[in-house]
Amino acid sequence: MKYHKFNNGDQIPLLGLGTWKSAPGDVYSAVREAIKAGYRHIDCAHIYENEAEIGRAIKDAISDGEVKREELWITSKLWNNSHGKDNVIPALQKTLADLQLDYLDLYLIHWPVPLKEDKKFAMVASHFYSLEERPISDTWKGMEQAVEQGLTKHIGVSNFSIKKLKDLVANSNIKPEVNQVELHPFLQQKEMLDFCSQENILLTAYSPLGSKDRAANMKGKDEPNLLNNSVIDEIANNRNLSSAQVLLAWAVNRGTAVIPKSVNPERIMENLKAADIILGEKNMDRIDLLDKHFRFINGKFWAVPGSGYTVENLWDE
Ligand code: A2P
Repeated sequence: MKYHKFNNGDQIPLLGLGTWKSAPGDVYSAVREAIKAGYRHIDCAHIYENEAEIGRAIKDAISDGEVKREELWITSKLWNNSHGKDNVIPALQKTLADLQLDYLDLYLIHWPVPLKEDKKFAMVASHFYSLEERPISDTWKGMEQAVEQGLTKHIGVSNFSIKKLKDLVANSNIKPEVNQVELHPFLQQKEMLDFCSQENILLTAYSPLGSKDRAANMKGKDEPNLLNNSVIDEIANNRNLSSAQVLLAWAVNRGTAVIPKSVNPERIMENLKAADIILGEKNMDRIDLLDKHFRFINGKFWAVPGSGYTVENLWDE
């Protein structure tokens, strides 16, 4: 396993288990299988609505002696309806109670899109706060308090553009240490990778396999398929790997963290093995050419007319 080392010496395993879309009923066994297989990094979020079940799996793995808390890296995320300095700690405490943990290793602002406290998602403009009403810098103060109170060791963001990261870096006491964004060969975000490595911010790649298990209303027409691409498939065949392993190895070989979701024991194992594969410069160069700036998670669901949020100002591009 490769690791990224943070300034305080803590190390995050670059490959972790994703849990978005892992249904209650499936996620307990997925986390148990993953820990048995050797995963030490689990990526969670309040909005995935499965943290209580993940918490039971972590607790049982610890009490069965398979792993110690301090050997695990647990990430979770602040949902959009808990932006604002004073909402962060209560939201984090709920996540900690669900996960049955005393502290997180990493807590992220899930989206730079604040919603009203009683809204889980947004249907109309009045469900949102503007970024003037709920500035990220104010929410970040709550994130910093969470570190000061020992509730999380590290803080970061998710779905932030370079512009929003720059603003945050300029307006923070504790700098964001991670940005979790969609990354895969069709969305390589090279400028973001360069910026983050200059700033010592780790990028974590979500949807590394294209998240084909998304709900139908989150899918576009004629989406490209990462797991059925001639270049990826050819590299996989030449190296006796699966296409998924090539995609995951590519992420780790770029120095990003990556969090493939699976609830299937064979695929959980297969994905973990990818963390130790070196693809080589020639294969990396071939994959480099596949970039087409294509987002599977395009953020259109936040672009509610009249809200002030658009796909363009979400990604600042
Ligand atoms: P499953 O959970 O049944 O294994 P992403 O991580 O990009 O969100 O993608 C998750 C999707 O990819 C899920 O449908 C998951 O199904 C599937 N998946 C996970 N690992 C593999 C793999 N090694 N090969 C093919 N599909 C995979």
